[in-house]
Amino acid sequence: MDNAGMKKGIVLKDDWPGYSLDLFTYPEHYHEDIESVYIPHGIITNRVERLAHYIMDDFADNKNIMVLCVLKGGYKFCSDLVEFIKVLGRNSNQYLETRVEFIRLKSYLSVLIVEAIVDTGKTMKALLKHVETFEPKMVKVAGLLVKRVPNMAESLTDYVGFEIPNHFVVGYALDYNEHFRDLNHLCIISKTGKMKYKV
Ligand code: HPA
Ligand code: MG
Repeated sequence: MDNAGMKKGIVLKDDWPGYSLDLFTYPEHYHEDIESVYIPHGIITNRVERLAHYIMDDFADNKNIMVLCVLKGGYKFCSDLVEFIKVLGRNSNQYLETRVEFIRLKSYLSVLIVEAIVDTGKTMKALLKHVETFEPKMVKVAGLLVKRVPNMAESLTDYVGFEIPNHFVVGYALDYNEHFRDLNHLCIISKTGKMKYKV
């Protein structure tokens, strides 16, 4: 399989405005709170499926992997990714047992850290440092979104879903003050939404 798109991801340009809201469905209670559908749910899941293929290739020598989900924003990405890894395993002779942990870590052989957003990489660097104290055989990082910020941490992320400009996005488990996690698509929040859910 060609792995050129693995580390870079689907690159969304600075001027990508997202899709008009009338083109998709979303919870009615958010209709004033979002500006556009930035990445539709279907595209997210198709991309996550592709990342599952890259991961299966890289972890081919392992019988099991420890999937470490970085909460809370990572839970949709993590559960979809693990589902695809299981389906791929069932449909091939390369079944990987996946165990998911949220905080606890034991010394497993190989670790896959699953994070929704990687920007400067400060959090990820600290987490990697911690994980490495358990001396795992292999550590990889899957990031659904990598943000183009000054000093972006591109090289930390082994599997990138999408590279996006430095926009604040919500949905697919990503929140703004705990709202919008129930939105399937990744969306851009509107001025009204920002005001309404401000704390
Ligand atoms: N959305 C939600 N939470 C976040 C983001 C974002 O774009 N960036 C950092 N935390
Ligand atoms: Mg948050």
